[in-house]
Amino acid sequence: MKIITDFNKVGASAFFETQNFAISPHIQTLRSVLVSGNYIAPEASINLPTDSHILEAVEKVVKNTKTTNLKYIFLIGIGGSNLGTKAVYEAMFMPRDVLSSIYPRIIFIDTNNVTLLQSYLILLNSLNDPSEYLIVSVSKSGGTTETIANTEILLTQVKEKWGNRPDRVIIISDKNSPFLQAGKKIGAHCLSIPPIVGGRYSVLGVVGLVPLALVGLDIVKFRQGAEEMANTCVHPEIIQNPAAIAAVTEVQAYRAGKNIHDLFLFNSELESLGKWWRQLLGESIGKAVIDGVNQETVGITPTVSIGSTDLHSVGQLYLGGPNDKLTTFLSVKNQPVDIVISSSRFFPKLIPMINNKSVNVIMDAIMAGTKSAYTEKGRQYLDIELSEISPFELGAFMQFKMIEVMYIGKLLKVNPFNQPNVESYKQKTKEILENG
Ligand code: PA5
Repeated sequence: MKIITDFNKVGASAFFETQNFAISPHIQTLRSVLVSGNYIAPEASINLPTDSHILEAVEKVVKNTKTTNLKYIFLIGIGGSNLGTKAVYEAMFMPRDVLSSIYPRIIFIDTNNVTLLQSYLILLNSLNDPSEYLIVSVSKSGGTTETIANTEILLTQVKEKWGNRPDRVIIISDKNSPFLQAGKKIGAHCLSIPPIVGGRYSVLGVVGLVPLALVGLDIVKFRQGAEEMANTCVHPEIIQNPAAIAAVTEVQAYRAGKNIHDLFLFNSELESLGKWWRQLLGESIGKAVIDGVNQETVGITPTVSIGSTDLHSVGQLYLGGPNDKLTTFLSVKNQPVDIVISSSRFFPKLIPMINNKSVNVIMDAIMAGTKSAYTEKGRQYLDIELSEISPFELGAFMQFKMIEVMYIGKLLKVNPFNQPNVESYKQKTKEILENG
């Protein structure tokens, strides 16, 4: 992964030097957390990729549950408990899933959508044997209404068809959660998340690794990418530290009135990666300032755009509307395949310049054209380039973003690890259901 910053676009490199003093203590903190390798500080999720116990636990549960005829993994979880897994799964396997004969696949079940749930139940019921499915239920707190309700519904369907099958259930939750205790009681496979690691920082732990290993992702490479990136992102020199550069740029843009950050992805299969990041930034940064006066709040609104599709929906707004956004263009250098448009064409007079051009060449031209239009209109952007869509690069990118958000939190003086207002909706929902 490469972050390309044109210092003329985001301010002279001297600007970063002036920011050294603001961000240095936070880099130092993160560095000591990384050196400690333990789960004490709130930033401890950065240690997940080097934790050998996690790898052992994942390998063990995969060995005990993955059958040769496994078709569907029903992954129940919401927010931080499924977005990271979905991001990696779609990035790696979306093109493969178009070819319907390849299994196993993950079916993501997050909200309580009755129409979709009904179709999942029909699918589950159509299977011949319990070895063809696995139910993986993930909830850090063990107290999320949607997740527990969906788990109950699927387990009931299984019970009606095959009786209780705890051997086909994996529960992932906080070490101390009542969900994990209850899961152990019914005899399900249970894996725990260290209490200090929050949902949206947990993809590199058992939360992401178990389902992704079950569908065959190279989780060792995924962890390696994240490990290497964590080492880079604690570099004391801001100029050598991509997460610090990005965080400082983003905070500077926010303070200059750009309170929207758009992640513009030029590979559609990365859309869920964008949505994972959207939760990470939105939930981590949008809140009251620690010790702020007059209930001061901050927040950067994350948006996700897909190139080139969204140029035809919001491109006008981005280029012609208010200059209130920072954009990060995310592109992929090496595409695994290419298709060339023949010169013997059906409509030779239409767009003649695509003769003999490949799809990748066309997309590169669209991306370069977009950036050029942004520059012309004075729209600030950063460039991130993945060398390819691979487990290593995805691990690196996700770790980079998680560390960047930790730094943004420190610079904007908020706690990037809590979500007090999400908790308030959860509590109120339970009260309404209790009284209803
Ligand atoms: O990132 C977070 O902490 C949240 O988005 C949670 O993951 C989400 O609210 C679901 O909570 P839980 O994993 O406890 O079911």
